[in-house]
Amino acid sequence: MPIKQMLTVVLFLSMSDIMKRIFLITILRLVLLLTLGLSNCKSSGTNPSSRQDDTTYAPTAAINTTRGHELFQQRCIACHGLNGKYRNNNAADLQFNKLDSIGIINTIVNGKGAMPMFDHVMPDSDLAQLELYVKTLRR
Ligand code: HEC
Repeated sequence: MPIKQMLTVVLFLSMSDIMKRIFLITILRLVLLLTLGLSNCKSSGTNPSSRQDDTTYAPTAAINTTRGHELFQQRCIACHGLNGKYRNNNAADLQFNKLDSIGIINTIVNGKGAMPMFDHVMPDSDLAQLELYVKTLRR
């Protein structure tokens, strides 16, 4: 038996009756807490209706376009304008764009007509934020 377990046993045997009870109750509580905690996880994982009641779900599910908006202001408004309607350099009206996510990202990465390519000037995470934001401009 490893030394740690042996010490625990010796400690346990040397305890008074009342201490032994407290010790056992503490362990019981721990086991109960663990099993209860696990069963809670299981039920929220398999039951979709309990997810809707879970208020912690809302903030993570909401789409945050703050970063996308910031990037758009820095890099895109010169041609597309704040709300995507401005058509400088014959830019496309983004309120009427019907591209899917891939199409939007493709346009930003490779450019199109008078629109420059933004490949290598921003990380993938920024591209994703911009793509999300461009979609919110649609009317
Ligand atoms: C120098 C001007 C210019 C800048 C800056 C610019 N664009 Fe464009 N954009 C254009 C032009 C011009 C077109 C139309 C290209 C064509 O169809 O020939 C276009 C087209 C697009 C389209 C395709 C729309 C469609 O319906 O086909 C998207 C999406 C787009 N731009 C997003 C962006 C985003 C996001 C940025 C900033 C990262 C940006 N653009 C910056 C000029 C620009």
